[in-house]
Amino acid sequence: MRTEGALGLEAHGLTVRLGGRAVVDRVDLAFAPGAVTAVLGPNGAGKSTLLSCLAGLRRPQAGEARLGGRSLAVVPGKERAHLLGYLPQSPEIAWSVDVRTFAGLGRTVRVGAFGPSDVDRAAVARALAVTQLTDLADRDVTTLSGGERARAHIARVLAGEPRWMIADEPLTGLDPSHQLDAADLMRGFAQAGGGVVVTLHDLAFAARFADRVVVLAEGRVLADGTPAEALAPDILARAYAIDARWTSGAAGPLLEVVARR
Ligand SMILES: Nc1ncnc2c1ncn2[C@@H]1O[C@H](COP(=O)(O)OP(=O)(O)OP(=O)(O)O)[C@@H](O)[C@H]1O
Ligand SMILES: [Mg+2]
Repeated sequence: MRTEGALGLEAHGLTVRLGGRAVVDRVDLAFAPGAVTAVLGPNGAGKSTLLSCLAGLRRPQAGEARLGGRSLAVVPGKERAHLLGYLPQSPEIAWSVDVRTFAGLGRTVRVGAFGPSDVDRAAVARALAVTQLTDLADRDVTTLSGGERARAHIARVLAGEPRWMIADEPLTGLDPSHQLDAADLMRGFAQAGGGVVVTLHDLAFAARFADRVVVLAEGRVLADGTPAEALAPDILARAYAIDARWTSGAAGPLLEVVARR
């Protein structure tokens, strides 16, 4: 993975209006490479909408997303695709291709005029290996189980060797062991200098694996800080209308949801 240079990803007054309301409302956030940021919040809070803007796939009505100080609106699509790896929520796979070819799609923007090089093939092979899909490389991707397919999508993003991984609920559908593997992958990606912005719903899991947590509610940033700061009981009460308390477990913090408010 390329790690040279800091290439910050930012939202400035980012606003998206859908169906007559601001589903992302004047959001200001700055993400630095080298860290995993988890974006949490209730269903409909605006997480996916925010991530699609950060990936440059949706144009906000006001404000902007910036990469390395440049508005994503002026970053050419090919460069954007090269730098920003995006994993949509519940992605569909419409093509009947083998898993290796599917993962290779994540590298299309890097492949030269003469087709995939050894470097390209090696990157795809690495992406399949770290997602434990090497044995399934020749299988038709449409025949994979839900969790295998989720891993194939992670492999597709990794194969492109982006600088940022913008992943919308990438752990959904993964069994506990593969959830830990995927979390390790994202941590490793950040430790190697990449940036990770990820949404998930498992608060205790986020508390253990994210460096930073942003809580969105009704399109606004409700909290932004360390997991302990952003997932404090009063924030959870406001965001989710739950009474919750943190206890310490053998593997890290545990969240006990005591009651619905
Ligand atoms: N085309 C649209 N027209 C009207 N409202 C929309 C449209 N698209 C999305 N929304 C609304 O925007 C809000 C934010 O949606 P978004 O998908 O960003 O939420 P989310 O935080 O990702 O939720 P989840 O946890 O369920 O994935 C939701 O209330 C959704 O219903
Ligand atoms: Mg979503």
